[in-house]
Formats: sequence, C-alpha cells, structure tokens
Amino acid sequence: METIDIQEVVTRDGLQIEDQFVPTEKKIDLINRLSAAGVNKIEATSFVSPKAIPNLRDAEDVMLGIDRKPGVTYTTLIPNVKGAERAAACKVDEVNLVVSASESHNRKNVRKTVEESFSGFSDIASFLTGTGISINGSLATSFGCPFEGSVSEDRILGLINKYLELGADGITLADTTGMATPKQVFELCSKVLHRWPDLPLTLHFHNTRGMGLANVIEGIRAGVTRFDASLGGLGGCPFAPGATGNICTEDLVHMLTFMDYHVRTDLDQLISTANYLETILGHEVPGQVIKAGKITDLHPM
Ligand code: COA
Ligand code: ZN
Repeated sequence: METIDIQEVVTRDGLQIEDQFVPTEKKIDLINRLSAAGVNKIEATSFVSPKAIPNLRDAEDVMLGIDRKPGVTYTTLIPNVKGAERAAACKVDEVNLVVSASESHNRKNVRKTVEESFSGFSDIASFLTGTGISINGSLATSFGCPFEGSVSEDRILGLINKYLELGADGITLADTTGMATPKQVFELCSKVLHRWPDLPLTLHFHNTRGMGLANVIEGIRAGVTRFDASLGGLGGCPFAPGATGNICTEDLVHMLTFMDYHVRTDLDQLISTANYLETILGHEVPGQVIKAGKITDLHPM
C-alpha cells in the first residue's frame, strides 16, 4: 500500500487571504487539532511583512504557542533574511522559501526579480547553516502565471537546479492560481523525478478550475508522494488576481483513503476540525465532504 504524505497549509495559505483576522488562540487551537489528526507537516504561518499580510502578523505568538507534536514537521514561509531570523528564533523545523517561476508574479508577490530572490536565498542559506533548520524551495506559478501564461518546463528544471545548488532539502511546485492540467502535471513531474529520483518533491495545487484532485492523481502516477492541502479548501495568494482555495485536505484524504492509499491522517478528525474551522470563520468553506458526508455515510430510505 503506497503511503501519501499530507502537508497542511490552512493556517498560512488559508488564513492569509481571509477578510478577517483570526485570533491567535484560535490559530493555535487549529494547528494543535491538525497535528492530533496526524498530518505529516504543517505550514503554521509566515514570517513576512505584517503590512503585506496583516492576517499573519501574530506569527511568533502562533509558533511559540502551539504544542509541537513529535514526528510533525512545523514549517513557515519566509521571504528574506529578516523572515529567517524570526523563524529561527521560534525554532521552526523548516523554512519554506518562495519565488515565482514567472517574473511578473514574483514582482507582485515579493517586489523582486527572480534573480534578486535567489541572491537573497543565498544569504538565507548562509544564515541557516549549522542551525539544523531545513530549507524547502517553493516555485509559485510553476504550472502557469495569471499575468504571463504558460511557463516552460526547462525554466522550471533550471529553477529547481538553482534551489538545489544553494542547498535546498526539498522542492515544492505550486500551482498558485489553478492553471495546471492533469496531463501537464504528469509530464512535468515525470521529468523532474527522472532527473532527481530521490528529490523530496511536493505538489501544491489550488482548485481554482476544479482540476485539483485530478492533478493529485496524475502527480501520484508520476511518482510524487507529498501534497499540500488546506483544511476546508481555504486559501489563495492575495497578489494573484482570481486566486481561490487550495485543494481541500479532508476531500483529498477522503479520496485517497477510499482508493486504498495509506495516509497517516485521520479522516473523521479532519472532518470535525473542518466543521470547527467554519465556526471560527463564521462562514462556509468550499470543501465538499463536510457537506455531503463520506461515501460510507448512508441515509435511511
Ligand atoms: N518580517 C517582518 N517585517 C518585514 C519582513 C519580514 N520578513 N521583511 C520586510 N519587513 C518589513 C521591513 O522591516 C519594512 O518595515 P518598515 O516599513 O516598518 O520599515 C517593510 O517590511 C518593507 O521592507 P522592504 O525590505 O522594503 O520590503 P518590501 O516593501 O519590498 O516588501 C516583502 C517585500 C517580501 C517583505 C513583502 O512584500 C512581503 O512580506 N510579502 C509577502 C509575500 C507573501 O506572503 N505572499 C503570499 C504567499 S506566496
Ligand atoms: Zn498556495
């Protein structure tokens, strides 16, 4: 039975785009419930400019307030050395660097050229040397950019190589605005894993055009075993027009469980945590399994 790792991003990707600030203690509670449900990795928050992402201005309080469950990797997104310093002070397990594969989205998101981002990453890598904190390199807009359209496979392979040269331990290919097609996912991931067979490769899909779970299946077929997902299907980049939620964690775990994949994450606990998330937010979330129930939840005639 093949094992699939579920990496939860709701308190970063999900909450960054919400209209309202979620109180710190609710964020902490959510993260603790998610680790109890057995997710492999949690992107707890981001150490970015509080002016850019006001909803995550409490990053230190969140990171220092949660229970760190052994075996769970706690990661945080960082854009620069200042972010790395803040993350290291909170003893994160991993930092997640982010650069866009397309110049225009990178400029919108972090106000830098791709080259400038990578030069900053070298400084981050030097700063982190000897701290034991691992580095994941994310490539936003890997499957298409809302401003520029398609991004070539060669460009993606080149950018992965740049990340690996500066010492990244893992790579995430992110589909920031849901432009990836299943065919494209299979082809690109096959090429990446052919070139770097042992690379810890994560896929990060948004379900903007309804292709998210189909993309997961094609990623698995190409050999990928790690997927980011967001509880309730929340999420989106505030610097990309029309961005909508990530693939939904409980919908993903539901599908994989009933396809006989091994996932460490407990589906019932996820569903009850997704219901709790709706009470925190005061609005419905896009996830479907919390509305329809599991395929084994039958009804009286
Ligand atoms: N943590 C906290 N504050 C930070 C910071 C960090 N990692 N990096 C920069 N800042 C602060 C600076 O101290 C400065 O504050 P001041 O105005 O009070 O002096 C301000 O932000 C601007 O700093 P500067 O270095 O000029 O950056 P910028 O204005 O060009 O912004 C980023 C660049 C990357 C810091 C900012 O755009 C950002 O944080 N973006 C978030 C991207 C994101 O999370 N996107 C969604 C996920 S992909
Ligand atoms: Zn995302």
